[in-house]
Formats: sequence, C-alpha cells, structure tokens
Amino acid sequence: MKIIFATNNQHKVEEIQAAIGGQLEVIGLSQAGVDIDIPEPHDTLEANASEKSFTIYRLTGHSCFSEDTGLEVDALDGEHGVKSARYAGEGRSFEKNIEKLLEKLGDNPDRKARFRTVISLVWEGKETLFEGVCPGRILTRPEGEGGFGYDPIFVPDGDTRSFARMTLEEKNRYSHRRKAADQLLTYLRQLSGFASSSATQPAPSSGSLPSTSSGTQPAPPISQHPEN
Ligand code: IMP
Repeated sequence: MKIIFATNNQHKVEEIQAAIGGQLEVIGLSQAGVDIDIPEPHDTLEANASEKSFTIYRLTGHSCFSEDTGLEVDALDGEHGVKSARYAGEGRSFEKNIEKLLEKLGDNPDRKARFRTVISLVWEGKETLFEGVCPGRILTRPEGEGGFGYDPIFVPDGDTRSFARMTLEEKNRYSHRRKAADQLLTYLRQLSGFASSSATQPAPSSGSLPSTSSGTQPAPPISQHPEN
C-alpha cells in the first residue's frame, strides 16, 4: 500500500521510508502528482503539521501524513523551535541557518539541544499526532557532508559524530523522525491491518500484515482530533 507524505523534502521521504521499511510505500508530493508548497505559518509544530496533512487530504481525498521538525537549543531558550527553517530569514539556506545559530551560541559551554518532530496523520478524516525527540548537542563548527539542514552541527546523545557524518541507517538509530515514524507505523498496523477504502491502492485484508519486529512498544499517539 502507498501513503502520501505531505512534503517536498526528498531527504525526509527517504528517512521515513528507511524507518518504516517495505511494509508501506511512502510517496512525497511530487510522486503523488501534487505541486504545492504548503506554508508553515503557525506557532507550534503540531499546528503546522496539521495544516499540511489536512491540506493534502482535502486536495487528494487520500489518507496522508505530514511532519514538522524543530531544533530546540537550551542556551537559546528553546530557539529555533518551530522557526528552524526560517531562522536566518525566508531564504531557507541551510548554511545561513547554521552560521546564525553558531554565532548566537558563541563559546557558550552549554551546547544541549534536541530535535523534535511531530507527525500528523489524517486517516479517513481523523487526525492523530505522534512525537519523536532526539536529544544531543551542538558542535562549535560544522562537520561532515551528508544529510541536510542542521545535520553538520548536531551530535546525538550516545555518539560522537554529527548526523552529517552518518549513513542514513546510522542516523535512523537516533533520529527524532524515526521515533515518530515508529509510532506512526505501529498505529497504522492497528488500523485493521492498513485496510482502508481511502488508501491510494487496495489494502491487504485485515490481519495479513507482519507483526511488530521490535520488542519495544512505542508510546501511544500524543492526541487525536476529528476533522473540523
Ligand atoms: P521543517 O520541518 O522542514 O520545517 O524543518 C525545520 C528546519 O529544521 C529546517 O531548516 C530543516 O532543514 C531542519 N531539519 C529538519 N529535520 C532535520 C534533520 O533531521 N536534521 C537536520 N536538520 C533538520
């Protein structure tokens, strides 16, 4: 079965697809034939994620999900948070955002930070939210060439390398997005084995899906709302 991920960021599609595995095919907006840049005007990750998923649900009639991510830096009182993409202005340049963050932090020894991802799933008109958090620290200068966004300056707790120095598989051992995606997948499994008339393809019959391979049970969704 395919599900639309309401994003134009191919890095995110690849990360979520790698986290979810082969049980569900995740397609981005361009693959779904949708050419739209959905704004993120709200003050919370939750509201931005909701806006994106409901916009695409109404446009396509298909169940879909979206996500919004923020980098929260303790020494900057939780900045950049929801404004992470626009931190250095509307240009959305990864380099400029990194430059501005490092400048603001200066030589402050408190480098603690976390990525927080909120996923909004709209399934047959009903919304469910999931959250994933990755604690870590901010480097004093960028390291590595891989990944995207703030990856070159973020080292997750439990490792010594920046996300930009890791393979996708390695990043997904720690990633905020993977943690939220784990919950999404568990929840989708519970929805009658993905069976739904609003999926983009005929779904397998109830009970035909493999059971969870991981022994740990992800946390339940953070909230649920019917469409209003
Ligand atoms: P958004 O969810 O695309 O709005 O992301 C907000 C900002 O955080 C953007 O500048 C992204 O590039 C950055 N960002 C989101 N996820 C990640 C990540 O996994 N690693 C590094 N930067 C990220």
